[in-house]
Amino acid sequence: MNVQIAESSTSQSIEPDTATLVRSRLRRIVLTGFMGAGKSTVGRLLADRLGWEFLDLDSLIEARTGLPVPSIFAEHGESHFRKLESQALASALGRKNIVLALGGGTPEILTNRLLLEQTPATATVFLDAPFPTLYDRCMMQALNPTSTARPNLADATAAEARFLARQPIYRRLAHHTIDTSNLSTEEAAGAVLTRLSLPAKRKP
Ligand code: S3P
Repeated sequence: MNVQIAESSTSQSIEPDTATLVRSRLRRIVLTGFMGAGKSTVGRLLADRLGWEFLDLDSLIEARTGLPVPSIFAEHGESHFRKLESQALASALGRKNIVLALGGGTPEILTNRLLLEQTPATATVFLDAPFPTLYDRCMMQALNPTSTARPNLADATAAEARFLARQPIYRRLAHHTIDTSNLSTEEAAGAVLTRLSLPAKRKP
């Protein structure tokens, strides 16, 4: 791309590299992927390294409703949760300099995909891994008493069917896909920064 800079009576043409243009314009990084992909953990690390704000969509829904996600599912059903999720997403995308971790099912909803695709200066990154790896990670997390239950993981066979149905949706939506199967969360955060040509403000 050509950028003209007027200098008194002369004009000078400079050619900034694509990475510089991307870096200077990017205002939001959105992490997507199935449950257990590491969206929240990697997102927090990324936000910290960039000096940006971290937002977790599930936490935002919980803060807005005053209810934990499993209670919303149990008391009002998944379709109501999805409506709340779309509202929270629209609100989150109004912010700048944020790293946003989506819920695993957020991209299933067309409205959400349109919101993500139409928000400028926004890079969507798919954190990918095979289903058994993701399932095992979720089972490990479930051992932690502070972790939130995942209603859509209760039935492993149904969860795998969801995983398979969502894979093409995650792929189509994302600007970048990172295979995290053999990466630590620190390495995954570094891989996102590298892929987006973003310099970290803070070292890991
Ligand atoms: C869901 C994933 C969860 C949460 C809800 C539904 C899903 O988020 O939004 O339990 O349908 O995949 P995480 O992906 O952060 O676990």
